[in-house]
Amino acid sequence: MEPIFVNFGNDKESNYKQFISQLQAFMGDETNEVSNMANIAAALHDIFKFFWVGFYRVIDGELVLGPFQGTPAVSRIEKGKGVCGTAWEQEITVIVPDVNKFPGHIACSLQSKSEIVVPLKKGNEVKAVLDIDSTKLDEFDETDGKYLEEIMDILSKQIFK
Ligand code: SME
Repeated sequence: MEPIFVNFGNDKESNYKQFISQLQAFMGDETNEVSNMANIAAALHDIFKFFWVGFYRVIDGELVLGPFQGTPAVSRIEKGKGVCGTAWEQEITVIVPDVNKFPGHIACSLQSKSEIVVPLKKGNEVKAVLDIDSTKLDEFDETDGKYLEEIMDILSKQIFK
């Protein structure tokens, strides 16, 4: 595993590009799902300073809390429930500028104000979701969606060979 160094500035796109350019070396030849999820959650949390970063994995028809960094969170989420269950059901990235305006949002911390959830797919099947929360309103946009989807594609190729 090589460490990820991001020359972090205000240009989000540049930060993501640097992150992605080093991601393969960072994961090395590790193919274990939980291990890679844990390191990616830790790296995104540490480098981008997001409030909460974690994975929910699809296990026996439910989302089950996986590796994460941040405050304790709800362990299980049903399909179609909350932002995570919606991203799973609709198989798309969901960006929520204000969590208080998202019907059915599941609050894990009152500090969370905005959120993005990106599916991790094996082929067309959603195997997990990446959930990121911010203490700022309107933190996430299409740029986050695009690059986080790219990160999930790289992770998928690494763990679902
Ligand atoms: N807010 C999520 C639940 C998970 S926590 O944010 C970590 C949701 O509505 O699905």
